[in-house]
Amino acid sequence: MELIPFFWFSFLFFSGFVGFTLCYQDGFLSLTCGGTTSYVDSYNISWIPDGDYISSGNITSVEGSSSSRIPVRFFPDSRGRNCYRLPSVTNVSFLILVRTQFVYKNYDGLGKPPVFFVSLGRAMVTMVNLTRNDPWIEEFIFPANMEVLSLCFHSTPNGGFPVISSLEFRPLHEGAYSTALGDSTDKLLKKSYRINCGYNDGSLRYPLDQYDRMWDADEDFSPYHVSSGFDVESTFNLSTIKEIPPTVVLQTARVLARRNNLIYNLPLDNHGDYHVVLYFAGILPVSPTFDVLINAVVVQSNYTVTRWEAGTLFFTIRGIKNLNITLKSISYYPLINALEVYEILDIPLETSSTTVSALRVIQQSTGLDLGWQDDPCSPTPWEHVGCEGNLVTSLTLSDIKLRSISPTFGDLLDLKTLDLHNTSLAGEIQNLGGLQHLEKLNLSFNQLTSFGSELDDLINIQVLDLQNNSLQGTVPESLGEFIDLHLLNLENNKLQGPLPQALNRESIEVRTSGNLCLTFTTICNDFSSNSSIQTPQVTIFTPRKHKSHRHIASILGAVGGAVLALFIISFLVILFMRRKKTEFVYTGRLELDMKNWNGAKVFTYKEIKAATKNFKETIGRGSFGCVYLGQLPDGNSVAVKVRFDKTQLGADSFINEVSLLSQIHHQNLVSLEGFCYESKQQILVYEYLPGGSLADNLYGANSKKITLSWVRRLKIAVDAAKGLDYLHNGSEPRIIHRDVKSSNILLDVEMNAKVCDFGLSKQMTQADATHITTVVKGTAGYIDPEYYSTQQLTEKSDVYSFGVVLLELICGREPLTHTGTPDSFNLVLWAKPYLQAGAFEVVDESIKGSFDSESMRRASLIACRSVETDALRRPTIAQVLAELKEAYSIQLAYLASARLIN
Ligand SMILES: *[C@@H]1O[C@H](CO)[C@@H](O)[C@H](O)[C@H]1NC(C)=O
Ligand SMILES: *[C@@H]1O[C@H](CO)[C@@H](O)[C@H](O)[C@H]1NC(C)=O
Ligand SMILES: *[C@@H]1O[C@H](CO)[C@@H](O)[C@H](O)[C@H]1NC(C)=O
Ligand SMILES: *[C@@H]1O[C@H](CO)[C@@H](O)[C@H](O)[C@H]1NC(C)=O
Ligand SMILES: *[C@@H]1O[C@H](CO)[C@@H](O)[C@H](O)[C@H]1NC(C)=O
Ligand SMILES: *[C@@H]1O[C@H](CO)[C@@H](O)[C@H](O)[C@H]1NC(C)=O
Ligand SMILES: *[C@@H]1O[C@H](CO)[C@@H](O)[C@H](O)[C@H]1NC(C)=O
Ligand SMILES: *[C@@H]1O[C@H](CO)[C@@H](O)[C@H](O)[C@H]1NC(C)=O
Repeated sequence: MELIPFFWFSFLFFSGFVGFTLCYQDGFLSLTCGGTTSYVDSYNISWIPDGDYISSGNITSVEGSSSSRIPVRFFPDSRGRNCYRLPSVTNVSFLILVRTQFVYKNYDGLGKPPVFFVSLGRAMVTMVNLTRNDPWIEEFIFPANMEVLSLCFHSTPNGGFPVISSLEFRPLHEGAYSTALGDSTDKLLKKSYRINCGYNDGSLRYPLDQYDRMWDADEDFSPYHVSSGFDVESTFNLSTIKEIPPTVVLQTARVLARRNNLIYNLPLDNHGDYHVVLYFAGILPVSPTFDVLINAVVVQSNYTVTRWEAGTLFFTIRGIKNLNITLKSISYYPLINALEVYEILDIPLETSSTTVSALRVIQQSTGLDLGWQDDPCSPTPWEHVGCEGNLVTSLTLSDIKLRSISPTFGDLLDLKTLDLHNTSLAGEIQNLGGLQHLEKLNLSFNQLTSFGSELDDLINIQVLDLQNNSLQGTVPESLGEFIDLHLLNLENNKLQGPLPQALNRESIEVRTSGNLCLTFTTICNDFSSNSSIQTPQVTIFTPRKHKSHRHIASILGAVGGAVLALFIISFLVILFMRRKKTEFVYTGRLELDMKNWNGAKVFTYKEIKAATKNFKETIGRGSFGCVYLGQLPDGNSVAVKVRFDKTQLGADSFINEVSLLSQIHHQNLVSLEGFCYESKQQILVYEYLPGGSLADNLYGANSKKITLSWVRRLKIAVDAAKGLDYLHNGSEPRIIHRDVKSSNILLDVEMNAKVCDFGLSKQMTQADATHITTVVKGTAGYIDPEYYSTQQLTEKSDVYSFGVVLLELICGREPLTHTGTPDSFNLVLWAKPYLQAGAFEVVDESIKGSFDSESMRRASLIACRSVETDALRRPTIAQVLAELKEAYSIQLAYLASARLIN
C-alpha cells in the first residue's frame, strides 16, 4: 500500500464541487466506529455510530484534523471473535464497495502501532500495518450474495490491538466491474490504485462520484505532461460504461506533449492476479491513436479516442508483482483520463451445509457458547475445529459433558480426527460408522462400557485411544482387521480374554495394562475382579512407516500438475480472447437457411422479441438467466430463457447442447421447442407449464389456498422420478441433472409433473474456463454431501437431491431454514431420524390424517435411503421410482376403500 497516497483530510478543499452532480445516497451505510452521535459531513454523507453492528471492543478517540477528536474502536480481547455483522443484500446482480479506515495516532500513548489481519466474509483480505501508514485505508468490491457480511479482526502475536475508525458500505451499479468478477461469487477485488489522471489537486469522491469511490490525485504528474484543460465543459455519454466514472474525472487527462510513450509504473503489494480498468475520453480537438502495452505486451493495438466519446478497456493480468502501463503513440499524443487497478482475491469455498448444521447441533448439545459463527473453516477455523480447505477434518471437544455420541457426529463425513476424551460418554461406542476417513479416534477418559459394532466400519483408522473407560468383555476380532492401525490403547478398562491374533503384528503398538486379563497367549484362569493383577501385557513395537501418505503426496502432485496445465491453457485462452478483443459473435451460419436443428426450431431474435412482447413478463430467475413468458404465432405459450451474456457457453458448446436437448423427449421432462442464437444472445424456448413449480405450490403465495394432498404429492414424485429415470437410464448419452430441486419440477394444468433445467452445461461455462473454479453447481440444501470432498457429481447425487425433494413433499418445509433450533435447520438431518423410526410427527400438518401409514412408510423410507450420506448405500433412481409407485398405489387403494366406507 505504501505508494498509495491518502488524502484523508484534504477533501474539504473540493467542497466547491458539491452540487455539480445530483446523486442520492442509495443504500449507503457509513459507520463511525466507536462513535456515539450521528452527523452529516461536509459531503452530505450521513454517519451513524457502529454500536448496532458490533458488540465487542473498547472505545476511545484519537487526535484528528484541526484539533477535533475522532472516535475509534479497538479490540484488546483477542480470544473471542471481534466482528462487525453488516446487513448485505441478497442480490447477485450487485457488487458492494466496502471502505475501511484504520487509525492509530498513538491513542494509547505506547507509541507502538498495531499490526493485524482483517477478514471480509470467508476471505482474509488484508494485513494492516499502521507503522507503514496511519491512517490506513482499504477498499474492497465483492458480490452481494450473503445475508450478513462479517468483517472481523484477527490479532497477530505481539501485534497490539486491532483498531478501526470508520466503515463505509456502497452498493454499486448493476453490471459494474462484472468484467473482473463475471458471475463468479468466489472472487473479490481489493483496490490497489484509482487514479484521476492529469489531476493533482487531491482526491475526489461523493457526490461527484455517485458511488463514493475515491479518485486519487495523479502523483506522477510532472511538467513534461500536459494535462486537462481542453474541453473541460464536455460531458460524455456514459451509458455504455457500467462503472460510471464521474464526469469531472474524465474531464482531466494526462497527455503527452511530444509524440512519445506515456508510461505508468505501478508497484504492487503482492504477487497475484490483477484487474486493470483504463478510462479514455475525447477531450482533445484531435483523435489520438495508440497501442496499449501492459508489462511490455501489447494488449490493445491501434486504440483510438474519438472526440466527445468515452470508452474503457479492461484487462486481467495473472501472476504479476509489477505493473507497467504504456501507451505507445501511433498518431497524435496518447492520453489517459483515469485508471483503476484491483488485486483479485479468492473467496474460499464454503463448507457444506450438512456439516455446518451438524456442528451447530453439536454446539447446542454441549450447552456451551463455543463462539461458532459464520463458516466453520474460513477465514479461520472455529475453535475446536480443524479444516482442510472447506472440509472439516478434525473436531476436539474435551472436558465437557456430552454423555453420548449422538448420531450428529456421524454427519461430519470428512473427519480424520475426532477427540472426545473426558466428555462423560457412557454406554456403547455408536454412530461413528459413517466416518470413513477417520484416522484418529480418542474416546479416552470416559465411561464407555461396550465396543458396539460400528467401529468395524472405520477402515482408515490409525490411532484408537480407548484408555480409562469401563469397556467390558473381550476385544472384538474386527479390531485386528484395520490395516493402517498402529496404536491401540486399551489401558485401564475391564477387558479380559485373549486379544485377537491379528493384532499381534509388528506394525501395531497395543497397550493393555490395567485390565482384568488381556494378552495374546496366556489363558486367564483367574477371573476374579481383582483389577490389581498386573500382567506383563504391554507389547511395544515401532510403528511402520506409512506408505499411504506418500501415495497421497504423489497423487496430489499429479493433480497439481493437471491443475497447472489447465491453468496455463486457460491463461492462453484468455490471452487469445483478449488479443482478438472483438466480441464473440457467432457467424450467423444458423440464420442462413436452417430453420430446424435436429428437431428444434431456430428462432430469430425478432421472433423472440415479438413472442415475449419485448421481454415483458418475467416468470422466473434460473441459475443462469431470466425466464420470460411468450406466445408463439400458433397460440402456444412458451417459456423463454435468456442466458446471461457473461456466462455464455462457447458457440459450439451451446449448439452441441441444444442439439442434444432437442432429441430428448419424455412426458415428464420439459421439452425444448427451439432456440435463438443471435445478437450475442443465447436463448432457449421451452414449453410453458402453467401450474408453476413444485416449490411454488408447496411454499408460494398460492400454497395456502390449494393444499397438495398426499396422493397428489406421490403422483408428482412418481412423475419426477420417471423424468429423472429417463435422464439416467433412457437417454443416450446418459444425463446427470446436477440441480434437482423442487423449483425445477414444474406442473401442468392437470398437475402432471415435469423436470426442467437439465442438460445445459453446468459442467464448464466460459466463465469457469477463464479461472479454475470449483463453484458448487447445485443448490444449497440439495447438494450431495460427498460432492464437497470428491468434487464430482454422479447419478447418485441426483438421487440425493431427489431424496431431499421427497422429504419436502413429506414434511412440507424447505431444505434449509434459519428459524427454530439448530437441530431443525437442515431438513435432512432433522427429518431422517424421525422417519426412519416410523415417527410421523414431522409429516406436513396439512396432510396429517389423510394418508395411509404403509404408503407413508414406504415413501419416507425410500426418501431416507436416498439421502444416505454414503452414495453407495443410496438406491438408484429406478429403485426409488419402483418404491414410489408402490406407495402411490397403496394410497390410491386406501382412498378407494375410504370412499366405499363413506
Ligand atoms: C443532502 O442529502 C439529503 C438526502 O440524503 C438531500 O435531501 C439534501 O438535499 C442533500 N443536501 C445537499 C446540500 O446536497
Ligand atoms: C476494555 O473495557 C473493559 C470493560 O469495558 C475493561 O475492563 C478493560 O480494561 C478495557 N481494556 C483496555 C485495554 O482499555
Ligand atoms: C436484484 O436487482 C435487480 C436490479 O435492480 C432487480 O431487478 C431484481 O429484482 C433484484 N433481485 C432481487 C432478488 O432482489
Ligand atoms: C510494518 O511496517 C514496518 C515499516 O514498514 C516494518 O518495519 C514492519 O516489519 C512491518 N511489520 C510487519 C509485521 O510486517
Ligand atoms: C448514449 O449511447 C447509447 C448507445 O450508444 C444510446 O443508445 C443513447 O441514446 C445515448 N444517450 C445519449 C443521451 O446520447
Ligand atoms: C517497468 O518499467 C520500469 C522502468 O520504466 C522497469 O524498471 C521495470 O522493469 C518494468 N517492469 C516490468 C514488469 O516490465
Ligand atoms: C491502425 O488503424 C489505421 C486506421 O484506423 C490503419 O491504417 C492501420 O493499418 C492500423 N494499424 C494496425 C497495426 O492495425
Ligand atoms: C476432565 O474434565 C474435568 C472438567 O470437566 C476436569 O476437572 C478433569 O481434570 C478432567 N480429567 C482429565 C483426566 O482430563
